[in-house]
Amino acid sequence: MPRFTDATTDDATGPLGSDPSRAQYRLTVRRPAIAEGHPTRPVSSESGGVRRGRTATTASVALPEGKTALVHAAILRWDRQQGRDLPWRRTRDPYAILVAEAMLQQTQVDRVRPKWEAFLQAFPTLRALAEAARADVIRAWAGLGYNRRAVSLHEIARTVVDAGGDTLPSSVEALRALPGIGPYTAGAIACFAFGLPEAVLDTNVRRVLDRIFAVEAASGVPADRHGWAMARAALPAGADVYDWNQALMDLGATICVARAPRCGACPVRESCAAVANVETSPTMSGPTPLPGLEGLTRVAESRATYRPESPKRVAERFEGSRRWFRGRAVAALRGLPEGATIAVDALGPLVDPDYKASSRRTWLLELLGDLARDGLVVVNGEGDASVARLA
Ligand code: ADE
Repeated sequence: MPRFTDATTDDATGPLGSDPSRAQYRLTVRRPAIAEGHPTRPVSSESGGVRRGRTATTASVALPEGKTALVHAAILRWDRQQGRDLPWRRTRDPYAILVAEAMLQQTQVDRVRPKWEAFLQAFPTLRALAEAARADVIRAWAGLGYNRRAVSLHEIARTVVDAGGDTLPSSVEALRALPGIGPYTAGAIACFAFGLPEAVLDTNVRRVLDRIFAVEAASGVPADRHGWAMARAALPAGADVYDWNQALMDLGATICVARAPRCGACPVRESCAAVANVETSPTMSGPTPLPGLEGLTRVAESRATYRPESPKRVAERFEGSRRWFRGRAVAALRGLPEGATIAVDALGPLVDPDYKASSRRTWLLELLGDLARDGLVVVNGEGDASVARLA
């Protein structure tokens, strides 16, 4: 079953490039209030002035209380003043939020916005999506890439509806039991739709928290588990969790970006453990850099997990890659009239301009086989008699 690639989002490094447009999204509308509550994960204040977040098993992260309180205040204030006014932040509909999060995991905000609206018009409810033909869902995904996400969404909708439900469950555990929902998506739906005080951790959030707090993983604790423990330990108490999670995403997408962060514009630059260790943007737009930090030189950051290749290099490597050919095959099949099939050797040149049946048919059939296993296409027949269509 295809999964959304949880915890790998990075607006700055996704295949569609960075998200430079934040300036136009000045917050004009406040998000709806979140129900009061306490984190369901044990994030407790313990003695010694540290906040601990424990995962169900072993990872434990201690954050200094004083610094954490300052960071909360600064980031939440910044969010009130400068958080982006994004359409999926105006709804609490779990289904609409699921669709947004699925789209946002690999695709930049500007591209998602119109696609999200169009998708919800085509399939306004979880039930409408469950009842739609797979091919129509894949068609509605055009322009977003990573088409398996469309299949995954469709499977989720069908699973819920087949089980007699009409809406997504609220708890992280129940959400994770659905096919294709990983920890990021579960946390996002629980928090953004149901107001539960759950952490979210994608690449952006991870990078922001790593930089601010610079907490090393305890020996033997895997990086991912450590990241979640840190995200839970950093959650503010009470009603601010929604805003906190959204603000961390915004900060990571717009200021605390992987390459050349704009530390001069950062609301927590005075508390950030990494501020002197990263190569900042030459523009340093925003408030004047702190005294002594004007001409920062680069010192390698200790964690490299979120450092991306340059967008140019990513684009160069993408063209001619397997994913590129997969995308072209799905795009070609999308262009067929509804229900029509195409012969493998007619499809070939639409996928690879240098297609030759003699040398490439086996390769193309294998590619189509992969797409069929992912639920995106159907292939009938064998060899040169093979025909394909959208699933
Ligand atoms: N990236 C992933 N989820 C997001 C959200 N809810 N808002 C903005 N960017 C995101």
